[in-house]
Amino acid sequence: MRLDIITCLPELFDGPINQSIVKRAQQKGLVEIVIHNLRDYTTDKHSHVDDYAFGGGAGMVLMIEPIDKCISGLQSKNTYDEVIYLTPDGQTLNQGMANQLSLHENMILLCGHYKGVDQRVRDHFVTKEISIGDYVLSGGELAAMVLADSLIRLVPGVLNDESSALTDSFQDNLLAPPVYTRPADYKGWKVPEILTSGHEAKIEQWRHDEAVKRTQERRPDLLE
Ligand code: 6GU
Repeated sequence: MRLDIITCLPELFDGPINQSIVKRAQQKGLVEIVIHNLRDYTTDKHSHVDDYAFGGGAGMVLMIEPIDKCISGLQSKNTYDEVIYLTPDGQTLNQGMANQLSLHENMILLCGHYKGVDQRVRDHFVTKEISIGDYVLSGGELAAMVLADSLIRLVPGVLNDESSALTDSFQDNLLAPPVYTRPADYKGWKVPEILTSGHEAKIEQWRHDEAVKRTQERRPDLLE
């Protein structure tokens, strides 16, 4: 999987994508993340990426030209399955969407900022618009990182234990069951006996029952 991320704040990506699972995925050659600084695609001498909105109003709008140059340049070298614009008015990300998108090879992620991008970018380049929830962030960068993380961990070979992505919360519309590790008794707080019984089938049944119980209590909407 290759993700080309277009942003006017490339520094924001330094940390998250160079740590932990995402870092290992890149080192293993399973995932490639390329960050593009929109400012590198400007043509005016002050490297402006945004301008005032036609018709007035507060807030700046990302201009179409640098975005066109960046996206068109990428599309002339690679073929992309999706050009995704991160925006609060997009479709809300869920595990099903992450699963589907994780099957793609190449995707462009466009991060909006300020008041968003010129509508013509959305009309002519963007193939999918995604939000990560009903709250407002200062820009699409954090959303792009959330999306990228959710996709990368689904790429085969990225997680050590292949089955662990499948037992995540939401993967079967159930929240994950409680987990415990050693010691089995800490200050008299004991681990459920079934888990130390060695009885595999019963443990599976217990986990399923706990997952259903937790989902009923916390997220009954998932069971509808
Ligand atoms: Cl994708 N962008 C911004 N700015 N805010 C958001 C979002 C995206 N998703 C949820 N809130």
